[in-house]
Amino acid sequence: MTALTLSTAAAPGLRADAIVIGVAKGAKGPVVASGAEAVDQAYDGRLAGVLETLGASGAEGEVTKLPAPAGFKAPLVVAVGLGAEPDKDAGYDGEALRKAAGAAARALAGSKKAAFALPVADAADAGAIAEGVLLGAYSFDAYKEAPKDAEAKNGKAPLGEAALLGGKPRDAAFKAAVARATAVAEELNRARDLINTPPNDLTPEAFAAVAQAAAKEHGIKVQILDDKALTKGGYGGILGVGGGSAATPRLVKLSYTHAKAEKHLAFVGKGITYDSGGISLKPAGHNETMKCDMSGAAAVFAAVVTAARLQLEVNVTGWLALAENMPSGSAVRPGDVLRMYSGKTVEVLNTDAEGRLVLADALWAASEEKPDAIVDVATLTGAMVLALGSRTFGIMANDDAFRTAVLEAAEEVGEPAWPMPLPEHLRKGMDSQVADISNMGERMGGGLVAGLFLREFVGEGITWAHLDIAGPAFNEGGPFGYTPKGGTGSGVRTLVRLAELTAAGDLG
Ligand code: BES
Ligand code: MN
Ligand code: ZN
Repeated sequence: MTALTLSTAAAPGLRADAIVIGVAKGAKGPVVASGAEAVDQAYDGRLAGVLETLGASGAEGEVTKLPAPAGFKAPLVVAVGLGAEPDKDAGYDGEALRKAAGAAARALAGSKKAAFALPVADAADAGAIAEGVLLGAYSFDAYKEAPKDAEAKNGKAPLGEAALLGGKPRDAAFKAAVARATAVAEELNRARDLINTPPNDLTPEAFAAVAQAAAKEHGIKVQILDDKALTKGGYGGILGVGGGSAATPRLVKLSYTHAKAEKHLAFVGKGITYDSGGISLKPAGHNETMKCDMSGAAAVFAAVVTAARLQLEVNVTGWLALAENMPSGSAVRPGDVLRMYSGKTVEVLNTDAEGRLVLADALWAASEEKPDAIVDVATLTGAMVLALGSRTFGIMANDDAFRTAVLEAAEEVGEPAWPMPLPEHLRKGMDSQVADISNMGERMGGGLVAGLFLREFVGEGITWAHLDIAGPAFNEGGPFGYTPKGGTGSGVRTLVRLAELTAAGDLG
């Protein structure tokens, strides 16, 4: 991953391939953002005009390259759009900085070193820029032949080194902000790697092994239930879904604890390493990206490891419900009844509604520990994508105040999210002739129906929220801001923020 440092160097004398500056959209054309004063001076104060001549407007995500002025060691200036210029006394918001830094880092793929001279008013700004650079520079090339040489040839290797100018390298707050950003971005990028890894390689067993190794590295306790242990324990939901695959299911429990912790959070992730739909097979056109169906588990895994790296004063338990949903002679059939870990029975009417089945078992297992709150993350329904589009996740909860708290945490870290209801009248659509509940309900409001199903498997009196990340988990369009094509790491930063807020006593 890109190496990142805070630097006090002045832009002109800096040996780098490029200097990144910010340009905002002002009332009368592009405005050079603070941090780029030395560059502007070297252009005799005419940089805004030069940028306008080159067609720059300062719009978000816009990248304009121009030769560096005489006397600069770096040959190139990269002006990146920050969007609308903020009011006089207000600074740039963190998300604008994060996106701009990410877009610039992407545009600098193939470069060895760049200096970022973006506006930095405080430590939080430095953290946002660091996060944007590290997330934007992400690339997944584990499956490209001879990646190193190939990259060098077509200039696609991620940016090697980033120096952030304008910060205070010896200030504790700046150091902490950059350390936090580095931990979050490294673990989030690892989640992206897991999502992008093809399903023939990332089986439930392989995912569990990755989690086990990371847990060991970071002093997290890990417990893995394989198919034998799941059978013994009565985890009918996970076993039912995983029964059609030659790659057997796993339930992974990661326990991070801190001696001074007063609260306990449980995170539960849907980890379907591939969702073919099972016997209710998905049609062609709907399964090409279904390796992404373990994005919730990847987010939970990344968040627990990040909490450990940051030594947050809160206990966090992560539950990864891992299974592959495949059709075969041993697969669960539409019409089967499963006895779940909670003891409830579920009539499976559609084997493609598998996420709620594995989550039900993991939610009940999480509930047995009586945590202060449970948050599950899942690529659960196509209905949520229809409702909110491909960049926003839906938040449902059994507690309005908690749903609002989760929404605010998401907003703080720059993850687009929206509150969704759990309308009681939709529950009866899941009534079953033979079992306690069926895994299908009314088609309309399918995302909410799924949420209502999950609610049945949350222990009495436990605060719970559900994030349906089916839209934002996997980016099928072009890259934007700090978001690459493919696995995005959606949910990670919201979970980490929730853990931080809980540690600080600011949640629940
Ligand atoms: N993994 C899918 C949901 C999904 C859809 C994720 C698109 C990412 C992008 C889930 O398991 C599923 O198949 N859901 C069904 C539920 C239905 C059968 C009740 C759906 O949404 O169609
Ligand atoms: Mn499915
Ligand atoms: Zn699924």
